[in-house]
Amino acid sequence: MKKIIIAIDGYSSTGKSTVAKQLADYLDYTYVDSGAMYRAVALFALQNNYISKNSFDQELFIKALPEIELDFKKENDNSKTNMFLNGVNVEKEIRSMYVSDFVSPVATLSEVRKKLVAIQHQMGVKKGIVMDGRDIGTIVFPEAELKIFMNADAEVRAMRRFNELKEKNQTITYDEILKNVQKRDLIDTTREDSPLIIANDAIELDNSETNKEDQFHIILQLAKDRIAGRI
Ligand code: CDP
Repeated sequence: MKKIIIAIDGYSSTGKSTVAKQLADYLDYTYVDSGAMYRAVALFALQNNYISKNSFDQELFIKALPEIELDFKKENDNSKTNMFLNGVNVEKEIRSMYVSDFVSPVATLSEVRKKLVAIQHQMGVKKGIVMDGRDIGTIVFPEAELKIFMNADAEVRAMRRFNELKEKNQTITYDEILKNVQKRDLIDTTREDSPLIIANDAIELDNSETNKEDQFHIILQLAKDRIAGRI
């Protein structure tokens, strides 16, 4: 059967990764969370004190970029795929608010984007891939057969993320999350290099009032149409 590339872009906490994983499982495709890669790079910048609340030594950080090695790996056959930074499993750490607060400024740097886009592009050469992020349909895979652009009300998104982090026992308030979501949206949409914009041929979905099962079936049908060459 023909394999395609599915690009899922959109605002933060719109459930991109949830639907991307559902699609990849169903179609037996590779799922790539490009945000995890930007988060791991931001963690590296934090660990090495290139960035902090009051400063960002961009020059030194850019020089250190070749030291960063990223891998999507499983701990064992039964575990989920996790993000590894220089051989260390950082899956849990990169989801913390500590990293969320710094990831968008780090992701504005062209040098960072160039490095990650090259890796991401390579992952898609054999197709059969679902990748989610901010610039997948515009920059990473402009040739993707299916492009989805996801949005939802900021309050709905913040509440979803709040519930998700609460389940993981992370102590954080709804207001802090809402602020973070709004701040990242602003940085992501206004940065110069690869801002979050809707590709001309993307299908826009607002899921403020759609549950994840319905959303999955809508996107799956769109994917099946493209795989079968109906569209
Ligand atoms: O899951 P969530 O919506 O919180 O965000 P994410 O997908 O984990 O991405 C975290 C951040 O990385 C975003 O806010 C962007 O600043 C950046 N990012 C990006 O610039 N380009 C991508 N393709 C993916 C993420």
